[in-house]
Amino acid sequence: LKAMEENNQKQRAAHCLIFPYPIQGHINPMLQFSKRLQQKGVKITLAVTKHLSKTTEFKSETISLETFSDGFDDGVPPGYDVETYLNTFREVGTRTLKETLQVMSDSGRPVDCVIYDPFLPWGLDVAKELGLYGAAFFTQSCAVDLIYHRVFTGELKVPLPDPESEILIPGLPPLKMEDMPSFISVHGSYPPIFEIVVDQFRGMEKADWLFFNTFYMLEEEVIEYMAKSSPVKTIGPTIPSMYLDKRLPDDKEYGLSVYKPNTAACMDWLNERQPDSVLYISFGSLAQLGNGQMEELAWGLKLSNKHFLWVVRSSEESKMPSNFLQETSDKGLIVSWCPQLDVLAHEAICCFITHCGWNSTLEALSMGVPMVAMPQWTDQSTNSKFVMDVWKMGIKAQKDEKGIVRRETIDRCIREVMEGEKGEEIKKNALKWKELARESMCEGGSSDKNIEEFVASLGSNSL
Ligand code: UDX
Repeated sequence: LKAMEENNQKQRAAHCLIFPYPIQGHINPMLQFSKRLQQKGVKITLAVTKHLSKTTEFKSETISLETFSDGFDDGVPPGYDVETYLNTFREVGTRTLKETLQVMSDSGRPVDCVIYDPFLPWGLDVAKELGLYGAAFFTQSCAVDLIYHRVFTGELKVPLPDPESEILIPGLPPLKMEDMPSFISVHGSYPPIFEIVVDQFRGMEKADWLFFNTFYMLEEEVIEYMAKSSPVKTIGPTIPSMYLDKRLPDDKEYGLSVYKPNTAACMDWLNERQPDSVLYISFGSLAQLGNGQMEELAWGLKLSNKHFLWVVRSSEESKMPSNFLQETSDKGLIVSWCPQLDVLAHEAICCFITHCGWNSTLEALSMGVPMVAMPQWTDQSTNSKFVMDVWKMGIKAQKDEKGIVRRETIDRCIREVMEGEKGEEIKKNALKWKELARESMCEGGSSDKNIEEFVASLGSNSL
């Protein structure tokens, strides 16, 4: 009987619980990673807060959903400060996540490994308290994580003593103050978020795996440097397979969307456009542009005289100059959210004006779309430095002394990315990165191998 039980145990698929910080830019990559694990035979459960599950739609036929309380099941009251919210989330979440895992175990669905978001490092504490494996899933670039790690260890002191001098960190190119993540360059700008990004490494030595949403060729130097002291595993880019290696079935409907895309409107409009003729503009799910910047961007688009598809979230709409829509109705389409991957993959798109959120950056690299970088905050300034100077896949639009990118600069950057020798070089590099991104996820590619290894060790160790 014991042998039979052991045999049954062996046949049980390994089971991972995915636990993302509840924002779109973290949920998307962790869910896409889950898809890859599932394809290799791992069972996946996604854990989200009760409020998020009530306000969003989760579409998946194979991934189970578990909800737990962050203490705010009816949402966070307006004006509630982030720090208090995060403290409550940690206190309540530690208890409710543990209860969820226990209930799952009692009902015959035990979890082997918690894949936690290091923005919520207590996810690892919960896993370890229950004797489970814990794997960190870092949602930002290795370069950015290394910078935060230096702050965590005290090797990089903030505020920086001499903001004028170059910052030299092994594994990274020399960085100027403007290339640093905003929480460092504008120290004290968002104290609770600064704490989150630095605290990501707390207890990391207890984690059994460290996953990074990037790929080896993209961040070779920094990965080699980090790998000397930590077991870094690159598993990205976590773009749906249908846009990369095409080994998994199409899954456009799959995911958990905080916003609803205007898919038909975008795709019908793009289908009417000529190849390589449309600018795509988006600033992700969180960034808020100042009124002045919004105005300059709008008139910069008009100045470029190109067709454009611009995502302006409804909370940003009021900042649009009043006569802009009438003046550009024959040139542009403005939507509140779009299916970004389909848009980037569309042959009509020639350039992406982006805030350089890490997901958007990886998506543009993987689709081979040249970028005009307009970083707003958090890791975006560092990402834009790499886009322009390391990967040479775009141009960073410079701000003036008032911190605004002017319309003439936007128009000039668009031309530089698309025309002349520089434009040619950028296009060539864009195709190179597209191919390297695909290769990393193909069978035997660097990221695919790391995912395989994880699944194999999960199987052999825990079951
Ligand atoms: C945030 C931070 O800005 C980013 O820098 C960090 O690394 C992760 O968290 P966000 O600002 O939303 O994320 O940007 P980004 O990382 O680019 O993620 C946005 C996601 O939303 C992308 O996957 C993008 O494809 C998707 N998106 C965006 C849409 O599907 N439709 C849109 O219209 C706009």
